[in-house]
Amino acid sequence: MKDIDPRELSADEWDELKYPRPETNDFDQVVEEAISRRGFLGGVLAFGSGAAVMGVGNLMSSTSAQAQAASRFAFTPIGIATDFTVHVPEGYAWSTVARWGDPLTSGGNGFDPASGHDAETAQHIFGENTDGMWLFKVDGREVIAVNHEYANLKTNLPASDGVPQSADDVLMLQRIQGVTIMEVAPKDGGGYEIVVDSPMNRRIDHNTPMRFAGPAAGHDLLKTDADPEGMAPLGTMNNCGSGPTPWGTYLTCEENFNGYFGSTDPEAALPDDFDRYGIGHDGWGYDYHKFDARFDISKNPAEPRRQGWVTEIDPSDPTSTPVKRTALGRFKHENTAVTLAPDGRVVVYMGDDERGEYLYKFVSNGVYTPGGATDHLLDDGTLFVAKFHADGTGEWLALTPETTGMDAAEILIFTRMAASAAGGTTMDRPEWVQVNPLAAEGYAALTNNKNRGVQPNAGGDPTPVNGPNPREANNYGQIVRWFPANDDHGTAAFRWDLFVMAGNPVTAEGAYKGSANVNPGNMFNSPDGMMFDSAGLVWIQTDGDDSNEGEFEGMGNNQMLVGDPVSGQIERFLTGPNGSEVTGLCWSADRKTMFVGIQHPGGSFPDGEGLPRSSVIAVWREDGGLVG
Ligand code: FEO
Ligand code: CA
Ligand code: CA
Repeated sequence: MKDIDPRELSADEWDELKYPRPETNDFDQVVEEAISRRGFLGGVLAFGSGAAVMGVGNLMSSTSAQAQAASRFAFTPIGIATDFTVHVPEGYAWSTVARWGDPLTSGGNGFDPASGHDAETAQHIFGENTDGMWLFKVDGREVIAVNHEYANLKTNLPASDGVPQSADDVLMLQRIQGVTIMEVAPKDGGGYEIVVDSPMNRRIDHNTPMRFAGPAAGHDLLKTDADPEGMAPLGTMNNCGSGPTPWGTYLTCEENFNGYFGSTDPEAALPDDFDRYGIGHDGWGYDYHKFDARFDISKNPAEPRRQGWVTEIDPSDPTSTPVKRTALGRFKHENTAVTLAPDGRVVVYMGDDERGEYLYKFVSNGVYTPGGATDHLLDDGTLFVAKFHADGTGEWLALTPETTGMDAAEILIFTRMAASAAGGTTMDRPEWVQVNPLAAEGYAALTNNKNRGVQPNAGGDPTPVNGPNPREANNYGQIVRWFPANDDHGTAAFRWDLFVMAGNPVTAEGAYKGSANVNPGNMFNSPDGMMFDSAGLVWIQTDGDDSNEGEFEGMGNNQMLVGDPVSGQIERFLTGPNGSEVTGLCWSADRKTMFVGIQHPGGSFPDGEGLPRSSVIAVWREDGGLVG
């Protein structure tokens, strides 16, 4: 184990290695769930042959029915790719908008991907590893807010093989991540480019001053020596997915924040809550704690509790202070999907991306009124965890002192423990959640979970196969959707089904072949990013195994597909370069350009020479038509 370099591991793999879980499940729970599993798998097989079954009954009844349905897709689907560039359908074109290191100001051009760069340069350039994003129209300008999830240590610090040697190295890493706000504009010949020196351009990083709001703000558990009031945290980190609000702000989500913290004292006793969140002595390799005491948990044990939140940013005001909305809970936040209940209450769906963690929603007490005050809406409400029943129904369980045994602030700071206590359903790594704008439906991409039916989650909760997570050692993933009672996202009751179970219909067996809307021409694994367009089609981005071998043979590189929620048809629209995940999607104000994120590409993407650079690309129709 000591020969493994943590920096070669994904955040999930690292958590597994550092925090191995016991391999025993609660026996009674296993038996109970095994019974329902038998019923479900029988249903899947029957479903594959055309029968409608409980739980997936609303899915397409057969592939021939799909073929007969009129396609709503305005493109000819493309095949898989295994090369190091992007492919889009015939009649579409793409170009690069922003690469890791591209200057946001005319003074920000000291970046050299081959030789490295310093903390000063990092303040003025587009950050690394683009992820969730959204485009806002601000006084006639098009402004994209985009996340930078993490830093590739070896490429940012080539002289020291990725090991920080100084406080300046750490500061550079802290500044190359976080969020970029940038104005973009159409460029000659198609596509878009950064408006260098726009007054809207801004970098928000691991040190940006912020404020806490909501019920946990100012709580003793969040106080540090540097912030004795517990109200003024610094920075947002591991910004993964995101989501816009109806009032024009950007919610950025803090995912694998635990990897940034470590201890200069390897024997330091750690608080009990650290284990569930994977916070330990070593860290993922950023080594912030060796040069910046804020990240040294032997000196500042409350600091990790100031990350793992949803942070709201106003992209229209470059001087605004980002706000950590504690009412939305603390976990490894993937993204947010904000919608409104019929009575105007704000509903925020959210996933916690770790094996066997939970799906959440927040429902505000206040009501959104266009043009009215909004600052209080995400501070006052109730957090719920999803519980799915095997019969195709489900309910949102309120996290309250009565259901959790915790007080209101503890529920928000230790949300994972609250969800366990309330009895939510352990899920196969909830990645992006979304809401269909044309129907009362919520969707969650459950990317994969090799531990399903194998071992408990990080809190010791058993993870036997269950309704929306029906396959043991699930390497392919699925998308679950729910239909709230009375078409009201504010209500507790819902029905659910599986929109798709990814799989390999050629090389796999049984349920691992995937659902009936998966075929040799569209197969993929590990759905992750997800976004609805204005036509009610759901775009699906993948972050999975792109080896194109074994159980993944025939799937090729990570990709972006689009699905029709009505017919169930899914077709492949874009393939990313080998080594990359495709993550983040938004549209220009005229809907004639889509912006797609290419994270951690391999080869020499996008330039064809030199180091690969994560990038936002523009995709458009050559005939000038709408793309979403
Ligand atoms: Fe950052 Fe769960 O993806
Ligand atoms: Ca993701
Ligand atoms: Ca992922």
